[in-house]
Amino acid sequence: MFDIQEIRSQFSILDREVNGKPLVYLDNAATSQKPNSVLDVCHAYYTELNANVHRGIHTLSQLATEEMELSRRKIQKFINAEHDFEVIFTKGTTEGLNLISYILTQKLQKDDEIIISYLEHHSNIVPWQLLCERTGAKLRVIPIDENGILQLDYLDQFLSEKTKVVSVNQVSNALGIVNPIEEIIAKTRKNSDAYVVIDGAQSAPHFNVDVQKLDCDFFVFSGHKMYAPMGTGILYGKREILEALPPFHGGGEMIATCSFDGTTYAGLPFKYEAGTPNVGGNIALGAAVDFMNSVGHENIQNHENALLEYAQRHLLEIEGLKVYGEKAKRTGVVSFNLEGVGISSDVGMILDKMGVAVRTGHHCTQPIMNFFNIAGTVRASFAVYNTFEEIDILVEGVKKAQRMLS
Ligand code: ALA
Repeated sequence: MFDIQEIRSQFSILDREVNGKPLVYLDNAATSQKPNSVLDVCHAYYTELNANVHRGIHTLSQLATEEMELSRRKIQKFINAEHDFEVIFTKGTTEGLNLISYILTQKLQKDDEIIISYLEHHSNIVPWQLLCERTGAKLRVIPIDENGILQLDYLDQFLSEKTKVVSVNQVSNALGIVNPIEEIIAKTRKNSDAYVVIDGAQSAPHFNVDVQKLDCDFFVFSGHKMYAPMGTGILYGKREILEALPPFHGGGEMIATCSFDGTTYAGLPFKYEAGTPNVGGNIALGAAVDFMNSVGHENIQNHENALLEYAQRHLLEIEGLKVYGEKAKRTGVVSFNLEGVGISSDVGMILDKMGVAVRTGHHCTQPIMNFFNIAGTVRASFAVYNTFEEIDILVEGVKKAQRMLS
């Protein structure tokens, strides 16, 4: 059923060496590698199909349009959106969150409130701070405990008729903690009329996402963390909400009519897709969805959870190693430090010499680092092609780093 060697054979880059050692790629939360099927689609697009979409009467333009719209429908199915036009192509999660915070500007006024959490990536903090600056609204932040678990009592206290937005991630990029978004959404619906925004950058690569079941208003994620090219991403928004809100970027493609007296806007999804899109990348995102479907969500999740459990168990055997969020429900990420080794990047550099790619530092989550009073962590993050042998190499590398640095 689940043949890891067969899966690995689909990723040519996994055959390469780094610093004379076989590559052990454990930086998947930053970006995943891409299977050959996705790379082939990119190559085929530029060698056989390249044309602008939705504009041309000519054959290539029509073929490119058909392929991109087919990809949109694959993604619609992938997240179980009701309509394909609720799926907007973006260049990634950051653009999606900036888009949402911008188009909500007119909906907020002074002293309204936006609720986020301590576990957010900077891209789910700064756009809301900018919205507060534009409107005079205030940011409220759900705190965490020493395990990194959200303290939802505070959400109960914060929610009121002033709450206009609740925006949280489904999985923390820095710690891998899986947040109880079903409960957060239920509480929000019960106690406010707020828009619910879910940052799915670290969940879409790992989970089966069902936006209708979640009943969120917006769900955003990146393609490049789920086996698709960089510069791809998705904004899902409920039809009636997207129809009622204003556009983000103005330009070609998003208009119905344009004159110097005024402009009317195109319907969904084009209203939010001004300018030439990343056609090849968007088509390849559909191929990445095909790849994930071919492996199966359950297989992906089971394998990645087994890797996480194995990695955490063996890392914790190292004396003086602390895993952040150790007791929390997590997926895909183990984030740690070695006692007495002040700088996570020193560990990362030693691992790199052994061919092991991890991310070190604050992971664009400085509030989490401030909470734990640290400058950063070493983060190993997993994808479906990682193996238990690779975790053994990671653990040996961390032991070596400890010997060299203490
Ligand atoms: N947000 C990405 C990460 O967590 C880049 O590494």
